[in-house]
Amino acid sequence: MTEQTSPDTIYKGLDGVVADYTAISKVNPESNSLLYRGYPVQQLAAQLSFEEVALLLWTGELPSQAEKEEFIALERAHRALDSRVKSAIDLLPLDAHPMDVARTAVSVLGANHPQSGDSSPEVELRKAQELFAAFPAVVAYDQRRRRKQELVEPREDLDYSQNFLWMTFGEEAPEEVVDAFRVSMVLYAEHSFNASTFTARVVTSTLADLHSGVTAAIGALKGPLHGGANEAVMHTFEEIGIDKDETREEAAARAKAWMEEALAEKRKVMGFGHRVYKSGDSRVPTMKQALDAMVKYYGRDELMGLYDGLEAAMAEAKNILPNLDYPAGPTYHLMGFDTEMFTPLFIAARITGWTAHIQEQRADNSLIRPLSAYNGPDERHL
Ligand code: COA
Repeated sequence: MTEQTSPDTIYKGLDGVVADYTAISKVNPESNSLLYRGYPVQQLAAQLSFEEVALLLWTGELPSQAEKEEFIALERAHRALDSRVKSAIDLLPLDAHPMDVARTAVSVLGANHPQSGDSSPEVELRKAQELFAAFPAVVAYDQRRRRKQELVEPREDLDYSQNFLWMTFGEEAPEEVVDAFRVSMVLYAEHSFNASTFTARVVTSTLADLHSGVTAAIGALKGPLHGGANEAVMHTFEEIGIDKDETREEAAARAKAWMEEALAEKRKVMGFGHRVYKSGDSRVPTMKQALDAMVKYYGRDELMGLYDGLEAAMAEAKNILPNLDYPAGPTYHLMGFDTEMFTPLFIAARITGWTAHIQEQRADNSLIRPLSAYNGPDERHL
C-alpha cells in the first residue's frame, strides 16, 4: 500500500484501531471487567501474591508450588541495587524527575546484562524476571537519596511487597499497608494495548532487546495522560490544600468548588476519564477499597472528603468517572511515598505486563509501521 494524501479515514490516536491479538489481558468496557489470562483482576488482587500474578502474566498459567518457589528464590537473589546502577543514579541531579532516573537505571541494567544480545524465549523470560526483582531497589534508593537517607539493603525473609516498603522506608511495614501496596501492584500490572505497552511492542517489533522496549515504555508512561496521572492527582489534592484538621464534609465542599472552577476554565483534571472505559474503570472499586483501608489505618478521613468532592463534582458536571490513578495517588501518599515517586511505582508493577507483551510480540512478530497521509507542500524544487 502506498502513502495516501486523502485516505478515507484517519484514526487519530489510533482510536478504535485493533492492532493485533493478545492473550495476556482482556479489557471489556461493556461489562467494566478486566481479565489477566482469563482471570478477573479482582479475584487475583484478593487472593494472590504479586509474584504469582507476575508468573501468570508471563507464562499464561498459575504457577505450581515448585515454579513459585523457584521464581521466589530468583527474585530474592536479584534484589540488591547493582553498583553500576547506583553509580549512574548518583550522577543524576536530585531534582531530576524520578521517571528519568528510572529510565536511566533500566537502560544501565540492559547495557550491563551479560546476555544483552540474546532474546531467545528462555533468556528473555529470565531478563524479565531479573528486572522485576531489581527495579524496586531503584525506586527505594531514589526516594531515600532525595531525603538524604542511606541505602537500605534488601531482606530475603520478606516477600516482594514487604521488601519494597522495607527498602524504601527502612522499617517493616504493617500488614494493612503491605496488603494495599500488593493490591496496587496487581491492579497496575497489565492493561492490554495502552500507550506504554504499545510502545514496548513497537520497539520489540524492530527486534530490539527487552531493556530497550522497557526503557521506551517508561518514556511513554511518564506523560500525565498516561502513568503520570497518579502523580498529577496528588498535585491536584495539594493545589486544593490538604488540611488534616478539617472534617470530611468541609474538605468535600472545598474540593467541589475547586472542580467547578477548574471545569469552567476547561482544565483537564488528571485521574478522570479513560480512552477505553467510558462508564467506569474496572480497577477502581478494588483500589478504592485499598485506599479506604489506608485512610482508616492512618486516620485521615479528611482526605476522603477531597476525594469524594472531586469525584461527585466531575460526575455531576461531565459524567466522567475516575480511573485507577485517582485512588492510587492518595493511597501512595498515605503510605509515605513522595508524590514524584508514584509513577515509578506504576513502572514496578507494569514491568510484568510490558515484558509479557514483549515476549508475545517477539513470538509472532511483524514490524509495526503504520502509514501516514502527507499534508505538506506539493513537490517543489530548489
Ligand atoms: N478532565 C476534564 N475533561 C475531560 C477529562 C478530564 N480528565 N477527560 C476527558 N475529558 C473531556 C474532554 O475535555 C473532552 O471534552 P469535550 O468533548 O468537551 O472537548 C471529552 O471529555 C473527551 O475527552 P478526550 O480527551 O478526547 O478523550 P480520550 O478518550 O482521548 O481521552 C484520556 C482519554 C485518559 C486521555 C482523558 O480522559 C484524559 O486526559 N484524562 C486525564 C488523564 C488521566 O487521568 N490519564 C490516565 C488514564 S488511565
